[in-house]
Amino acid sequence: MVYARITGTGGYLPENIMTNADLEKIVDTTDKWIRDRTGIEQRHIALEGQTMVDLAEAASRKAIEAANIEAQDIELIILATSTPDKIFPSSACILQARLGIHGCPAFDIQAVCSGFIYALTVAEKFIKSGTSKKALVVGAEIFSRILNWEDRSTCVLFADGAGAVILEANDETGIISTHIHADGKYENLLHVPYGIGDGYDQVKAGKAFVEMKGNEVFKVAVNTLGRIVDETLAANNMMKSDIDWLVPHQANIRIITATAKKLKMSMDQVVVTINKHGNTSAASVPLALDVAVRDGRIKSNELLLLEAFGGGFTWGSVLVRY
Ligand code: ACO
Repeated sequence: MVYARITGTGGYLPENIMTNADLEKIVDTTDKWIRDRTGIEQRHIALEGQTMVDLAEAASRKAIEAANIEAQDIELIILATSTPDKIFPSSACILQARLGIHGCPAFDIQAVCSGFIYALTVAEKFIKSGTSKKALVVGAEIFSRILNWEDRSTCVLFADGAGAVILEANDETGIISTHIHADGKYENLLHVPYGIGDGYDQVKAGKAFVEMKGNEVFKVAVNTLGRIVDETLAANNMMKSDIDWLVPHQANIRIITATAKKLKMSMDQVVVTINKHGNTSAASVPLALDVAVRDGRIKSNELLLLEAFGGGFTWGSVLVRY
Protein backbone atom coordinates (compact mmCIF):
# COMPACT_ATOMS: atom_id res chain seq x y z
CA MET A 1 0.00 0.00 0.00
CA VAL A 2 1.31 3.48 -0.88
CA TYR A 3 0.56 6.40 1.45
CA ALA A 4 1.12 10.13 0.94
CA ARG A 5 3.26 11.16 3.89
CA ILE A 6 3.90 14.70 5.11
CA THR A 7 7.70 14.94 5.25
CA GLY A 8 8.13 18.69 5.68
CA THR A 9 6.09 21.72 6.70
CA GLY A 10 6.67 25.45 6.27
CA GLY A 11 4.87 28.67 7.11
CA TYR A 12 5.26 32.35 6.42
CA LEU A 13 3.52 35.39 7.89
CA PRO A 14 4.17 38.94 6.70
CA GLU A 15 6.22 40.89 9.26
CA ASN A 16 3.63 43.65 9.56
CA ILE A 17 1.34 42.98 12.57
CA MET A 18 -2.04 44.67 13.01
CA THR A 19 -3.46 44.48 16.55
CA ASN A 20 -7.07 44.92 17.65
CA ALA A 21 -6.01 48.30 19.06
CA ASP A 22 -4.88 49.29 15.55
CA LEU A 23 -8.32 48.30 14.23
CA GLU A 24 -10.06 50.39 16.89
CA LYS A 25 -8.55 53.40 15.09
CA ILE A 26 -9.97 52.36 11.71
CA VAL A 27 -13.51 51.08 12.42
CA ASP A 28 -16.09 51.25 15.23
CA THR A 29 -14.93 48.19 17.15
CA THR A 30 -13.21 47.22 20.39
CA ASP A 31 -10.45 44.81 21.36
CA LYS A 32 -12.95 43.18 23.76
CA TRP A 33 -15.60 42.59 21.05
CA ILE A 34 -13.06 41.00 18.71
CA ARG A 35 -11.50 38.79 21.43
CA ASP A 36 -14.84 37.71 22.92
CA ARG A 37 -16.56 36.94 19.60
CA THR A 38 -13.63 35.50 17.63
CA GLY A 39 -10.56 34.86 19.82
CA ILE A 40 -8.42 37.09 17.58
CA GLU A 41 -5.82 39.37 19.24
CA GLN A 42 -3.70 40.30 16.22
CA ARG A 43 -3.16 39.40 12.56
CA HIS A 44 -0.42 39.78 9.93
CA ILE A 45 -1.13 42.05 6.97
CA ALA A 46 1.10 42.11 3.86
CA LEU A 47 2.89 45.31 2.99
CA GLU A 48 2.10 47.16 -0.22
CA GLY A 49 4.03 45.47 -3.02
CA GLN A 50 4.02 42.03 -1.36
CA THR A 51 1.95 39.48 -3.26
CA MET A 52 0.33 36.17 -2.34
CA VAL A 53 3.00 34.26 -4.30
CA ASP A 54 5.71 36.04 -2.27
CA LEU A 55 4.17 34.51 0.86
CA ALA A 56 3.65 31.12 -0.82
CA GLU A 57 7.27 31.04 -2.00
CA ALA A 58 8.65 31.73 1.49
CA ALA A 59 6.48 28.99 3.05
CA SER A 60 7.36 26.54 0.24
CA ARG A 61 11.10 27.06 0.66
CA LYS A 62 10.80 26.29 4.38
CA ALA A 63 8.79 23.09 3.68
CA ILE A 64 11.34 21.98 1.05
CA GLU A 65 14.17 22.55 3.53
CA ALA A 66 12.32 20.70 6.32
CA ALA A 67 11.72 17.70 4.01
CA ASN A 68 15.42 17.71 3.10
CA ILE A 69 14.75 17.57 -0.64
CA GLU A 70 15.69 19.75 -3.60
CA ALA A 71 13.04 21.88 -5.32
CA GLN A 72 13.87 19.98 -8.54
CA ASP A 73 12.67 16.73 -6.90
CA ILE A 74 9.07 18.03 -6.82
CA GLU A 75 6.78 16.36 -9.37
CA LEU A 76 3.51 18.20 -8.61
CA ILE A 77 2.55 21.66 -7.28
CA ILE A 78 -0.94 22.45 -6.01
CA LEU A 79 -1.64 25.90 -4.59
CA ALA A 80 -4.92 26.62 -2.78
CA THR A 81 -5.89 30.27 -2.86
CA SER A 82 -8.81 32.65 -3.39
CA THR A 83 -6.52 35.63 -3.84
CA PRO A 84 -4.34 34.77 -6.86
CA ASP A 85 -1.67 37.20 -8.07
CA LYS A 86 -3.20 37.25 -11.57
CA ILE A 87 -6.42 36.03 -13.19
CA PHE A 88 -4.10 33.83 -15.21
CA PRO A 89 -1.66 32.11 -15.36
CA SER A 90 -2.33 30.19 -12.18
CA SER A 91 -0.37 31.27 -9.14
CA ALA A 92 0.96 27.70 -8.93
CA CYS A 93 2.74 28.30 -12.27
CA ILE A 94 4.18 31.59 -11.00
CA LEU A 95 5.34 29.80 -7.83
CA GLN A 96 6.84 26.97 -9.90
CA ALA A 97 8.98 29.45 -11.87
CA ARG A 98 10.10 31.21 -8.67
CA LEU A 99 11.27 27.86 -7.29
CA GLY A 100 13.20 27.13 -10.50
CA ILE A 101 11.13 24.04 -11.33
CA HIS A 102 10.27 23.32 -14.97
CA GLY A 103 7.82 20.81 -16.45
CA CYS A 104 5.91 19.29 -13.55
CA PRO A 105 2.12 19.87 -13.38
CA ALA A 106 1.17 22.98 -11.38
CA PHE A 107 -2.34 24.28 -10.76
CA ASP A 108 -4.48 26.28 -8.32
CA ILE A 109 -7.44 25.09 -6.31
CA GLN A 110 -10.20 27.50 -5.32
CA ALA A 111 -12.23 26.30 -2.33
CA VAL A 112 -11.80 29.38 -0.12
CA CYS A 113 -11.06 28.38 3.50
CA SER A 114 -11.28 24.65 2.67
CA GLY A 115 -8.75 25.07 -0.14
CA PHE A 116 -5.83 23.37 1.59
CA ILE A 117 -7.98 20.35 2.54
CA TYR A 118 -9.10 20.11 -1.11
CA ALA A 119 -5.50 20.47 -2.32
CA LEU A 120 -4.21 17.75 0.03
CA THR A 121 -7.03 15.49 -1.14
CA VAL A 122 -6.10 15.92 -4.79
CA ALA A 123 -2.35 15.59 -4.18
CA GLU A 124 -2.91 12.37 -2.24
CA LYS A 125 -4.68 10.86 -5.29
CA PHE A 126 -1.67 11.68 -7.50
CA ILE A 127 0.67 10.01 -5.03
CA LYS A 128 -1.52 6.96 -4.35
CA SER A 129 -1.96 6.34 -8.08
CA GLY A 130 1.82 6.47 -8.60
CA THR A 131 1.60 9.54 -10.87
CA SER A 132 3.80 11.67 -8.56
CA LYS A 133 6.27 10.72 -5.83
CA LYS A 134 6.84 14.14 -4.31
CA ALA A 135 4.28 16.97 -4.18
CA LEU A 136 4.34 20.54 -2.89
CA VAL A 137 0.94 21.51 -1.48
CA VAL A 138 0.42 25.12 -0.45
CA GLY A 139 -2.35 27.23 1.07
CA ALA A 140 -1.69 30.97 0.71
CA GLU A 141 -3.82 34.08 0.91
CA ILE A 142 -3.64 37.85 0.85
CA PHE A 143 -7.20 38.47 2.04
CA SER A 144 -6.34 42.01 3.16
CA ARG A 145 -6.64 43.03 -0.53
CA ILE A 146 -10.29 41.90 -0.79
CA LEU A 147 -11.50 43.37 2.52
CA ASN A 148 -13.65 46.44 2.88
CA TRP A 149 -11.71 48.29 5.59
CA GLU A 150 -14.88 50.23 6.43
CA ASP A 151 -16.87 47.04 7.20
CA ARG A 152 -16.22 46.10 10.83
CA SER A 153 -18.08 42.80 10.48
CA THR A 154 -15.43 41.39 8.10
CA CYS A 155 -12.20 43.44 8.25
CA VAL A 156 -11.45 42.39 11.84
CA LEU A 157 -11.54 38.68 10.92
CA PHE A 158 -9.34 37.96 7.91
CA ALA A 159 -5.59 38.15 7.38
CA ASP A 160 -2.61 37.17 5.23
CA GLY A 161 -0.20 34.23 5.35
CA ALA A 162 0.97 31.00 3.74
CA GLY A 163 1.56 27.40 4.78
CA ALA A 164 3.03 24.52 2.80
CA VAL A 165 3.75 20.82 3.07
CA ILE A 166 5.81 18.33 1.10
CA LEU A 167 3.97 15.06 0.50
CA GLU A 168 6.01 11.99 -0.43
CA ALA A 169 5.09 8.43 -1.38
CA ASN A 170 5.72 6.14 1.59
CA ASP A 171 5.05 2.43 2.18
CA GLU A 172 4.24 2.70 5.86
CA THR A 173 2.29 5.73 6.92
CA GLY A 174 0.69 9.01 5.90
CA ILE A 175 -2.75 10.25 4.87
CA ILE A 176 -5.36 7.66 5.89
CA SER A 177 -8.49 9.21 4.43
CA THR A 178 -9.79 12.44 2.90
CA HIS A 179 -13.37 13.74 2.82
CA ILE A 180 -14.44 16.79 0.80
CA HIS A 181 -17.87 18.29 0.14
CA ALA A 182 -19.55 21.40 -1.27
CA ASP A 183 -23.03 22.92 -1.46
CA GLY A 184 -23.30 25.90 -3.79
CA LYS A 185 -26.77 26.85 -2.55
CA TYR A 186 -25.01 28.87 0.18
CA GLU A 187 -23.11 31.03 -2.35
CA ASN A 188 -24.55 34.32 -1.10
CA LEU A 189 -23.83 33.85 2.61
CA LEU A 190 -20.08 34.26 2.13
CA HIS A 191 -18.68 35.68 -1.09
CA VAL A 192 -17.05 38.44 -3.06
CA PRO A 193 -20.19 39.34 -5.03
CA TYR A 194 -18.37 40.84 -8.01
CA GLY A 195 -16.08 39.31 -10.61
CA ILE A 196 -15.50 38.97 -14.34
CA GLY A 197 -19.11 37.86 -14.86
CA ASP A 198 -21.30 39.60 -12.27
CA GLY A 199 -20.79 43.26 -11.44
CA TYR A 200 -17.63 43.86 -13.43
CA ASP A 201 -18.22 47.61 -13.04
CA GLN A 202 -17.74 47.16 -9.27
CA VAL A 203 -14.45 45.36 -9.91
CA LYS A 204 -13.27 48.27 -12.05
CA ALA A 205 -14.34 50.67 -9.27
CA GLY A 206 -12.17 48.72 -6.81
CA LYS A 207 -15.16 47.53 -4.75
CA ALA A 208 -14.89 43.74 -5.03
CA PHE A 209 -14.80 42.92 -1.31
CA VAL A 210 -15.72 40.01 0.97
CA GLU A 211 -19.32 40.02 2.20
CA MET A 212 -20.48 37.60 4.87
CA LYS A 213 -23.66 36.92 6.83
CA GLY A 214 -21.51 35.84 9.78
CA ASN A 215 -24.28 34.66 12.06
CA GLU A 216 -25.80 32.32 9.47
CA VAL A 217 -22.37 31.03 8.38
CA PHE A 218 -21.53 30.33 12.03
CA LYS A 219 -24.53 28.03 12.56
CA VAL A 220 -23.94 25.99 9.38
CA ALA A 221 -20.19 25.78 10.11
CA VAL A 222 -20.65 24.33 13.61
CA ASN A 223 -23.18 21.70 12.43
CA THR A 224 -21.22 20.77 9.31
CA LEU A 225 -17.89 20.39 11.12
CA GLY A 226 -19.62 18.14 13.67
CA ARG A 227 -20.86 15.94 10.80
CA ILE A 228 -17.45 15.79 9.06
CA VAL A 229 -15.86 14.58 12.31
CA ASP A 230 -18.43 11.74 12.53
CA GLU A 231 -17.97 10.89 8.83
CA THR A 232 -14.17 10.71 9.15
CA LEU A 233 -14.21 8.50 12.25
CA ALA A 234 -16.92 6.17 10.86
CA ALA A 235 -15.08 5.75 7.52
CA ASN A 236 -12.02 4.51 9.41
CA ASN A 237 -13.78 2.57 12.16
CA MET A 238 -12.07 4.79 14.72
CA MET A 239 -13.09 6.29 18.02
CA LYS A 240 -12.83 9.91 19.11
CA SER A 241 -10.14 8.93 21.60
CA ASP A 242 -7.90 7.68 18.75
CA ILE A 243 -7.24 11.25 17.57
CA ASP A 244 -4.10 12.84 19.07
CA TRP A 245 -4.45 16.32 17.55
CA LEU A 246 -7.19 18.44 16.01
CA VAL A 247 -5.72 20.90 13.49
CA PRO A 248 -8.77 22.99 12.56
CA HIS A 249 -9.37 25.88 10.19
CA GLN A 250 -8.98 29.03 12.27
CA ALA A 251 -12.15 31.05 11.62
CA ASN A 252 -13.49 31.56 15.13
CA ILE A 253 -12.38 30.19 18.51
CA ARG A 254 -16.03 29.40 19.33
CA ILE A 255 -16.33 27.15 16.24
CA ILE A 256 -13.02 25.45 17.13
CA THR A 257 -14.13 24.86 20.73
CA ALA A 258 -17.46 23.39 19.56
CA THR A 259 -15.65 20.92 17.27
CA ALA A 260 -13.24 19.93 20.07
CA LYS A 261 -16.21 19.38 22.38
CA LYS A 262 -17.85 17.15 19.78
CA LEU A 263 -14.62 15.09 19.71
CA LYS A 264 -14.51 15.10 23.54
CA MET A 265 -11.00 16.53 23.18
CA SER A 266 -9.28 18.76 25.68
CA MET A 267 -8.22 22.11 24.22
CA ASP A 268 -4.65 20.98 24.99
CA GLN A 269 -4.98 18.65 21.98
CA VAL A 270 -6.20 21.39 19.65
CA VAL A 271 -3.81 23.58 17.67
CA VAL A 272 -5.02 27.17 18.04
CA THR A 273 -3.38 30.00 16.11
CA ILE A 274 -6.40 32.26 15.51
CA ASN A 275 -5.32 34.53 18.39
CA LYS A 276 -2.08 35.43 16.59
CA HIS A 277 -2.92 34.78 12.90
CA GLY A 278 -6.63 35.69 12.47
CA ASN A 279 -8.46 33.85 9.68
CA THR A 280 -5.96 33.30 6.85
CA SER A 281 -8.46 31.23 4.82
CA ALA A 282 -6.65 28.48 2.82
CA ALA A 283 -3.42 29.17 4.72
CA SER A 284 -4.81 28.60 8.20
CA VAL A 285 -4.60 24.78 8.44
CA PRO A 286 -1.05 24.41 7.03
CA LEU A 287 0.12 27.37 9.14
CA ALA A 288 -1.34 25.79 12.30
CA LEU A 289 0.21 22.43 11.38
CA ASP A 290 3.61 24.05 10.84
CA VAL A 291 3.48 25.89 14.17
CA ALA A 292 2.69 22.69 16.13
CA VAL A 293 5.28 20.60 14.25
CA ARG A 294 8.03 23.17 14.76
CA ASP A 295 7.30 23.76 18.47
CA GLY A 296 7.45 19.99 19.02
CA ARG A 297 3.82 19.39 20.02
CA ILE A 298 3.02 17.18 17.02
CA LYS A 299 5.30 14.15 16.93
CA SER A 300 5.97 11.40 14.45
CA ASN A 301 3.32 8.66 14.27
CA GLU A 302 0.58 10.74 15.95
CA LEU A 303 -2.93 10.80 14.46
CA LEU A 304 -4.07 14.22 13.24
CA LEU A 305 -7.50 15.38 12.14
CA LEU A 306 -7.30 18.37 9.81
CA GLU A 307 -10.63 20.05 9.01
CA ALA A 308 -11.98 23.19 7.38
CA PHE A 309 -15.16 25.00 6.36
CA GLY A 310 -15.46 27.93 4.02
CA GLY A 311 -17.12 29.86 1.22
CA GLY A 312 -19.06 27.86 -1.36
CA PHE A 313 -19.93 26.40 1.07
CA THR A 314 -17.08 23.91 0.99
CA TRP A 315 -15.90 21.69 3.82
CA GLY A 316 -13.70 18.70 4.41
CA SER A 317 -11.26 16.76 6.53
CA VAL A 318 -8.01 14.84 6.22
CA LEU A 319 -7.03 12.11 8.67
CA VAL A 320 -3.28 11.66 8.70
CA ARG A 321 -0.74 9.67 10.65
CA TYR A 322 2.12 12.16 10.88
N1 ACO B 1 -17.04 45.28 16.47
C1 ACO B 1 -18.10 45.57 17.22
N2 ACO B 1 -19.35 45.18 16.91
C2 ACO B 1 -19.49 44.43 15.79
C3 ACO B 1 -18.41 44.09 14.95
C4 ACO B 1 -17.15 44.54 15.33
N3 ACO B 1 -16.04 44.26 14.63
N4 ACO B 1 -18.88 43.35 13.91
C5 ACO B 1 -20.20 43.23 14.10
N5 ACO B 1 -20.59 43.88 15.23
C6 ACO B 1 -21.93 44.01 15.80
C7 ACO B 1 -23.02 43.75 14.80
O1 ACO B 1 -23.32 44.94 14.08
C8 ACO B 1 -24.17 43.34 15.71
O2 ACO B 1 -24.74 44.50 16.27
P1 ACO B 1 -26.35 44.61 16.51
O3 ACO B 1 -26.68 43.50 17.47
O4 ACO B 1 -26.50 45.97 17.07
O5 ACO B 1 -26.94 44.40 15.15
C9 ACO B 1 -23.47 42.58 16.83
O6 ACO B 1 -22.10 42.97 16.78
C10 ACO B 1 -23.57 41.06 16.71
O7 ACO B 1 -23.24 40.66 15.37
P2 ACO B 1 -23.26 39.16 14.93
O8 ACO B 1 -22.90 39.09 13.48
O9 ACO B 1 -24.56 38.52 15.37
O10 ACO B 1 -22.07 38.57 15.83
P3 ACO B 1 -21.62 37.09 16.01
O11 ACO B 1 -21.65 36.74 17.43
O12 ACO B 1 -22.32 36.16 15.05
O13 ACO B 1 -20.08 37.15 15.57
C11 ACO B 1 -18.74 36.55 13.66
C12 ACO B 1 -19.75 37.53 14.25
C13 ACO B 1 -17.49 36.63 14.49
C14 ACO B 1 -18.45 36.95 12.23
C15 ACO B 1 -19.31 35.11 13.71
O14 ACO B 1 -20.62 35.09 13.24
C16 ACO B 1 -18.49 34.11 12.91
O15 ACO B 1 -17.39 33.76 13.26
N6 ACO B 1 -19.07 33.55 11.81
C17 ACO B 1 -18.48 32.46 11.07
C18 ACO B 1 -17.30 32.86 10.22
C19 ACO B 1 -16.83 31.66 9.43
O16 ACO B 1 -16.71 30.56 9.94
N7 ACO B 1 -16.58 31.80 8.13
C20 ACO B 1 -16.26 30.66 7.32
C21 ACO B 1 -14.86 30.54 7.01
S1 ACO B 1 -14.21 31.98 6.27
C22 ACO B 1 -14.09 31.73 4.53
O17 ACO B 1 -14.50 30.77 3.97
C23 ACO B 1 -13.50 32.85 3.72
